[in-house]
Order: sequence, then C-alpha cells, then structure tokens
Amino acid sequence: MAKKIVSDLNVKGKKVLIRVDFNVPMKNGVITDDTRIKAALPTIKYVLDGGGKAIVFSHLGRVKVAEDIAKNDITPVAKRLEELLGVKVKFINKTRGKELEDAAASLKDGEVLMFANTRNEDFDLVNNKEVKKESKNDPELGEYWASLGDVFVNDAFGTAHRAAASNVGIAANVKETAAGFLLEKEIKFIGGAVDNPKRPYVAILGGAKVSDKIGVIEALIEKADKILIGGAMMFTFLKAQGLNVGASKFEEDKLDLAKELLTKANGKIVLPVDALVAKEFADVKGLEKDVDKFDNDDMGLDIGPKTLDLFAKELQGAKTVVWNGPMGVFEFENYNKGTIGVCELLANLKDAATIIGGGDSAAAAEQLGYANKVSHISTGGGASLEYLEGKELPGIACVDNK
Ligand code: 3PG
Repeated sequence: MAKKIVSDLNVKGKKVLIRVDFNVPMKNGVITDDTRIKAALPTIKYVLDGGGKAIVFSHLGRVKVAEDIAKNDITPVAKRLEELLGVKVKFINKTRGKELEDAAASLKDGEVLMFANTRNEDFDLVNNKEVKKESKNDPELGEYWASLGDVFVNDAFGTAHRAAASNVGIAANVKETAAGFLLEKEIKFIGGAVDNPKRPYVAILGGAKVSDKIGVIEALIEKADKILIGGAMMFTFLKAQGLNVGASKFEEDKLDLAKELLTKANGKIVLPVDALVAKEFADVKGLEKDVDKFDNDDMGLDIGPKTLDLFAKELQGAKTVVWNGPMGVFEFENYNKGTIGVCELLANLKDAATIIGGGDSAAAAEQLGYANKVSHISTGGGASLEYLEGKELPGIACVDNK
C-alpha cells in the first residue's frame, strides 16, 4: 500500500514536526559529511514554501552516560542546516520545557525551529542513569513531542529500523503522518527491489564480515538472481570451499555458515577468481593472484581484474542492482580499484535501477565521484540492510497509508 507523502498534506499554517536523520559523522565538533542534511532539504523546503512552520529534530550518536550529551551536541548540525537552507533556524538546545514550547507556539509560517539531540532523553541527568526514553519509545515522550506540532512528517530513513519516541511515538499521537521526500525515495528504490525487482536482479555484497550480512544474504538467496561477493568476506567463503586464503582476514567461526549459504544458494553466489595481495596491511603496491594460488603470507586486500571482468559479465542485462559493502580496502589508493570498478560497472548499466546501500559503499561512491551516476544512494546503513532483508521497518510502518 502506498504511503502518504508530505505533498499529500495541506501544510499551510500548520506546525509540521519533521523527524530527520542528521546523525552525521563529526570530528572534533566539525561535520565531516553533510549528505544526510542535504538529503532532507527538499522536505523542509516544501513545508516552508507551502506556508508551513517546520519543527525539525534528530538524534546524534548514542547517549549512554552524562558526558555523551555534550559529546553529541547537535548545535553544529543546526548551524549547517541554516547555511544549507538559507533560512534562519531557531535552535533550542533542549528536548522539552517552556522555552521549547513557547518557541514552537510562536513559530510563524515559513519559519524553522530545531531542537536538541532527541537521544538526550536517553539519559536522566537528575538521577544520573540511562533511561532510554527516546530509544525505547517511552509513551509520554512521544505524546509530549507530538503536542508541539499539528502533523508529523517522517523523513528519517536512516533511523527507520528503530522504534523510537521521535518516530513511532509521535506518529501514534498525531492525526496525520506522512513520509518526507527522502523516505519516499528510499521506499521507491529499496522497497522496489525488495517487493518487485525488475529482473535480472543482481546483488553485490562486500565489506569485512559475513556475520554483518547473514540476514541479507539469506534474503537475497531467495530473491536475487545472482549474488556477487567481494570485500574481506569473500575469504570466509573461499576458505569454506577449502582454498588457502593465506594471511587474509576471514571469520573462522563462520566457515560452516558460509558453506551452508553456498549450498543453499545453489550457484547463485559468485565468488572472486583473483585478488590483489600484499604481505602486510599497508597501502603498498599489490600483486595480482588467482584465489587458488595464495601463499601463506598473502593478504588479499582487493578483488582483482579478472574478478571485475567476471562481475561485468554477470551484470550484463541486469535490470535491478543492489550493492552494499566495498570490494577492498578502498581507503588505500592501491586497493580501491575493485570498488571503483564496481562503481563504474553500475554507472554504465543501461536501463537498470542501480541502488547503493548506505554505509561504507555509499561513502566510497560519494568519495570516488559516482554519486550522480547511479539511481539511488541510500542514506541508511543498518536501515537499508534490514529493509533489504525484507523486514518491516517501524519508521515506515508508522506512516499513514494513502
Ligand atoms: C545510522 O547512522 O545508522 C542511524 O542514524 C541509526 O543510528 P543508531 O545505529 O545509533 O541507531
């Protein structure tokens, strides 16, 4: 069933509560990647242009001890939002209280208010203990935040796998809930791949660990036509097939599982045939080696050129491609060719929905300049994986149907 979208709402004169995912990476209080803020702008602008009053909020990091509140201060994010929007953002660094209530009540049409890190509510400063009111969806908190506005728009895809007070809690206490444009796009692309993929449907999985991707591999074995595997997790599969992976990283305790997955996949899983190896984990020039020719001290750090050719063949004619996880240590210039190669393969596919799951592969595609050459880069890490697994995400389920 299609979800109600912000453009289905009449926002004129309304206080629109907008949950965004501004959980952006920061270093010493400076935002190092503002993709998630940019991705939420269309929804906020739509509300402002439609004569609504925007009340924006997000979590940032995790708050488990008192010090985490200062550590995850969301002030720089509010500033960056103001710069990107080109509209004054009134920022109240509190999650509740009279100052916030007055600011919400006195907002004028076309104005923006942002409040503090929603996860500050996870810690009770008075009793000095973790209470997880936001993260465990405390009913009073959702009701309180809902009381600050008239309607609720959820645009926080990155948080959609969490049932928190700031998404499902608010939704349960307002008359109308709609998806923002970002959430709509994520549903269209990732939801589309899950529910109704155009075929052939090829998945590409990388990253370090099989253990992070078990659910998604199992789901893809059912749904996808082919699953191409790269990244360090390839070595767990290769080792499970009895190959000598040398000094490469693999998961000893996941060998049986990898074997089981290979059997279940019945030929759908395609493993690399070569890799770039080094004798140490360092950005030094690698040697191309077939996967059955490793010496004991060879450490595989990227997929090799023969594997890229193999992947190119498997991708020919694909109509839906989902990619999650880098192919090698792409932070090292000597080992980014596999990841660049996959970006290139996706960019050159004609008439295909090409979707990059969030996290490292999204960061790699952005960093390597391929962001505009694929159909969709997800803003969700855990959320996009759980969505691909076919799980119902609470942050989507709580949005009204059309
Ligand atoms: C993310 O970055 O994956 C989301 O913002 C969710 O963050 P969390 O894992 O701390 O809930």
